[in-house]
Amino acid sequence: MDGFRRHRRWRAHANLRRLVREHAWQVDDLVYPVFVREGLNGKEEIAAMPGVYHFGLDAFRREVAELAELGIPAIILFGIPADKDEWSTSAYREDGIVQQAVRAAKAEHPDLVVMTDVCLCQYNPAGHCGVVRDGKIVNDESLTLLAKTAVSHAQAGADVVAPSDMMDGRVAAIRQALDAHGWTDVAILSYAVKYASAFYGPFREAAHSAPAFGDRRSYQMDPANAREALREAASDVEEGADALMVKPGLPYLDVLRSLREAFPLPLAAYHVSAEYSMVKAAAEKGWIDERSVVEETLLAFKRAGADFILTYHAKEAAKWVKASSWR
Ligand code: PBG
Repeated sequence: MDGFRRHRRWRAHANLRRLVREHAWQVDDLVYPVFVREGLNGKEEIAAMPGVYHFGLDAFRREVAELAELGIPAIILFGIPADKDEWSTSAYREDGIVQQAVRAAKAEHPDLVVMTDVCLCQYNPAGHCGVVRDGKIVNDESLTLLAKTAVSHAQAGADVVAPSDMMDGRVAAIRQALDAHGWTDVAILSYAVKYASAFYGPFREAAHSAPAFGDRRSYQMDPANAREALREAASDVEEGADALMVKPGLPYLDVLRSLREAFPLPLAAYHVSAEYSMVKAAAEKGWIDERSVVEETLLAFKRAGADFILTYHAKEAAKWVKASSWR
């Protein structure tokens, strides 16, 4: 008797560890964010996000074929329009870049789940997620435009619309509009808990969506708040959300866990742009082993309670899995 427990017995070799492993990630859990840019020929790499590109429509078609081949179940589309105006009209035009991309993806790969980000910030010169009036982001007028945008995405064939604007009441407005147009089967993945985060820096450069004045703190959540996340999520559930999301990822695993415990809905984590950029930068310097860091990160999201994960690493993760039989 040595008077202590021998936890190491289950760690002694690989097959013992396999037996008692509690969590795992798989390609089934991954959603790949894709940027489509109106008027672009070919593709253009995003400086702060090596390996992530803006795609013109043709290059996008080729990318989608590759993703489908890799077995990635879903993409989420972000549009970069050629024109911006006060009413964000490019967000809900029938021939807007996202609408065209949805049609192109669905025409060739009807099984691929196509999600769309529903927001206005890429589409108006103020770079805010809602309508701007007298320097303020006005809530209720924004709802009409967000709902129009979601309906136009559904019309193009989107399976899931994902509002990321953080206006109050958007889930209800979008649900009502979708149903009124007959899109009762289109699901809403709500960015229910989206923090005003510095971790979106590279995305804003990528999406040309940095605010022209002020910041997003009057609508995105204060990183200091955790209980508020439960109130935000509860409203979205009441309003008809079909799935909830927490964003950013690793710095908010506590929030992810608390939503997992409070709501039985499917739950997503968004592993955001700066999280990707930091991994890439450190890996380039040879300071970390990229694959190990990414795999551990994906596992952490699963352990904290995510059903699926939006990540810019999805494509390379799928390639790693393809190249090895078991981990
Ligand atoms: C649009 C939107 C943003 C992200 C997703 N949708 C930027 C923002 O809110 O500023 C961030 C994604 C990322 O950083 O990877 N509102």
